[in-house]
Amino acid sequence: MNPIYLKWTGCGGFEVRTDAINFAFDPYLFGENLTSASPDFDYIFISHEHFDHCHPGTLRRLCRGDRFKKIFVSPGCCDPDRPVDEKYRDAAFDRDLPITKYLDPELVQVVFPRHLSHVGGESRSFPGPFELDLGPIHVDIIESGENQRPDLPNCGYLVTVRDLDISFLHTGDLTEPYRSLEKLRGKVTCLIHMKMGLTEWGGDDRTDKLLQCIDAIEPEFLIPIHYRTDRASDPIPHGTWPPDVTDAGAFIEWIREAVGHRTRVLPFTAGVEYEVELPSKRVLWKWNWHNTWTEPSWRDDRSNE
Ligand SMILES: [Fe+2]
Repeated sequence: MNPIYLKWTGCGGFEVRTDAINFAFDPYLFGENLTSASPDFDYIFISHEHFDHCHPGTLRRLCRGDRFKKIFVSPGCCDPDRPVDEKYRDAAFDRDLPITKYLDPELVQVVFPRHLSHVGGESRSFPGPFELDLGPIHVDIIESGENQRPDLPNCGYLVTVRDLDISFLHTGDLTEPYRSLEKLRGKVTCLIHMKMGLTEWGGDDRTDKLLQCIDAIEPEFLIPIHYRTDRASDPIPHGTWPPDVTDAGAFIEWIREAVGHRTRVLPFTAGVEYEVELPSKRVLWKWNWHNTWTEPSWRDDRSNE
């Protein structure tokens, strides 16, 4: 069985490439990463209309080419609320939305969540589709968070790659766990961790939110994303959402300690592509050793001799 390739591209962007199909969640690319991106995806899934998840510049680049078939979006991407909230830098909802201003409407399909949160109300009903059969993958749609209105639900996507016995749950910006997440128990290989349990500096500890989510879903692996670092290699420029972490290693350890051994935390670095062996689902942690000098520079300083 051939390996698959996973890449967190920064912020909420996550890419999956297999022999049979390539798909991406919430792609959000800048600079060289944007101009050099090859449009090799079959499908793209967008959780919500915020600029860091539904990004016209990136989507215009990726939603084309021979492979591309369709982009699935939450209703707010095509029917944004008015007046729109523009409290974040680079947010320009009136400029960016509806996304069909930038993409061929024939390529865009609005979807709705089957599993609903108590936050907007469990009794709401939507027209669907709630699930998608797309050849090698099956997609179940769940409610995410940060809805503009209860009738514009944001979407999380559980994508199962049938022949490979592996699945990915991208929750979007879900911050509050909810009861019907239990319906996903036993179905999630990789939970792509976004904002669940994050605590504002000095704020109330929200770690219990992450634990409730893990208790409900019991994923095999957790891949933390949707944070940025101050590393020069971070693909998301400084000053843009999402939040910075001062120490990515400490952040990962906080998650690992909270989650315990029941779910394995995979500490991906943004911008690095990881190879996953199948059927073992073992990540091949490749690394390089770069020598930047052959002799310590201080040896040139003979002034003290
Ligand atoms: Fe976000």
